[in-house]
Amino acid sequence: MSLIMRTLFAGFALLPTALAATSMLLASHFSGAIFSLALNTQGSNGTLAITSAAGGCSSTPTWPRYYADTKKLYCWDESWQGYSMAEYNVSTDGTLTVNGQATPPGNDVHGLLTPSTLTTYALPLKAGPDRPFTTPLQMETFYMAGPGPNERQHNGPHRTKLSLIPLGNSSSQLNACPDAQTAPGDGPRHGEFWSPKGNTTSPDGLKLYTVNELGNSASSWSVTYGAGCASLNKTQTISTFAAGKVPAATMQLPLAANRNDKLFENETDSLATYSIDPTTGTVTWVEATSAHAFYPRSSSVNKAGAMVAVGGQTSSSVAIVARDTITGNLGSLIASLQIGAQGTYTNEDGLSSVVWVEKVSIVRQV
Ligand SMILES: *[C@@H]1O[C@H](CO)[C@@H](O)[C@H](O)[C@H]1NC(C)=O
Ligand SMILES: *[C@@H]1O[C@H](CO)[C@@H](O)[C@H](O)[C@H]1NC(C)=O
Ligand SMILES: *[C@@H]1O[C@H](CO)[C@@H](O)[C@H](O)[C@H]1NC(C)=O
Ligand SMILES: *[C@@H]1O[C@H](CO)[C@@H](O)[C@H](O)[C@H]1NC(C)=O
Ligand SMILES: *[C@@H]1O[C@H](CO)[C@@H](O)[C@H](O)[C@H]1NC(C)=O
Ligand SMILES: *[C@@H]1O[C@H](CO)[C@@H](O)[C@H](O)[C@H]1NC(C)=O
Repeated sequence: MSLIMRTLFAGFALLPTALAATSMLLASHFSGAIFSLALNTQGSNGTLAITSAAGGCSSTPTWPRYYADTKKLYCWDESWQGYSMAEYNVSTDGTLTVNGQATPPGNDVHGLLTPSTLTTYALPLKAGPDRPFTTPLQMETFYMAGPGPNERQHNGPHRTKLSLIPLGNSSSQLNACPDAQTAPGDGPRHGEFWSPKGNTTSPDGLKLYTVNELGNSASSWSVTYGAGCASLNKTQTISTFAAGKVPAATMQLPLAANRNDKLFENETDSLATYSIDPTTGTVTWVEATSAHAFYPRSSSVNKAGAMVAVGGQTSSSVAIVARDTITGNLGSLIASLQIGAQGTYTNEDGLSSVVWVEKVSIVRQV
């Protein structure tokens, strides 16, 4: 088995809302800690509490990814100092135990925190005096012919999110396929696959939605397969803001988090909700609602679709927001909690990501 280094955050869950229930979440913090959280809900009321914390993913852990089948968490470090990738066992009470670590080759191309590379590793990761740290299987570097129109593209492409094309090749070897062309200055940061039948391993009607961090927009792509490669054809690009508003960071379909738009109160940003036409896959803007957090960097819908966990970077908080499972519209705040030290405005500190400890599912909107 091999793991493609990927930065997908995802959510999942269980509970009938009227009953008392407990869910677990994991939140990574730029101070180096990964916090285990317990969410207790009763009806529309809830409380969040920190149950434990772990290190092991170097100084700047980001984008943890939980695998329900193996009950393992994989974490990548944004600083590329020391052991920059870690594998944890996640116990039933949320306690994390480091099971292996790896040191990515680092970025010898541009000297950036976010390198223009993609690396694969064989699992499980190894660690310990008798087990050398895991070395990569393969590394690919992305190039840009020249600087992009956005000032953040002056020194090359930045990989921030990788999605696995869901049909595929059982070999762990990656083969380069023809590129899909975004508009200059789009800066796609996240992508999620969507299938009209809810089966993203089928090519039938498969779409990819990307959030463009630099362009503050979302694009839809049709996906077709042939000769061992998938090709993407861009069909639509729409703003992550209501008409006339302007900055976007993350997407958990059909949500995009608008970092720093301060649309709601002082130091509270918005989440954009879109609907997807189940026949054509066309995306339509629905509304902007409060993220109940400042500088929301991640958002993750639970498996039942009834709650969204929002990770506020600068507020260093996790907010749990109710979600209508039929319409997809967001409702009231269920619980929120500050986790670790607050961040400072526009700096790379505070909370980096939050994930549900549940099985991954694709969110569908009707
Ligand atoms: C939720 O909390 C509010 C305020 O604390 C309380 O009035 C209400 O009864 C609670 N509702 C439920 C369903 O527990
Ligand atoms: C992690 O879990 C595996 C079983 O899935 C076990 O073999 C291993 O010893 C555990 N590692 C640690 C560090 O507890
Ligand atoms: C999803 O599609 C794949 C590929 O067509 C198929 O093998 C699989 O059985 C489908 N899964 C479900 C749950 O329908
Ligand atoms: C899968 O990848 C292997 C290794 O690169 C290649 O030899 C094989 O042709 C690929 N298979 C398909 C169906 O693309
Ligand atoms: C790409 O999408 C456009 C717009 O929907 C369509 O006109 C065109 O035929 C598509 N091209 C391919 C190669 O599918
Ligand atoms: C906004 O919030 C910050 C931090 O809570 C506070 O220092 C500042 O005074 C607030 N500004 C306004 C206009 O309320």
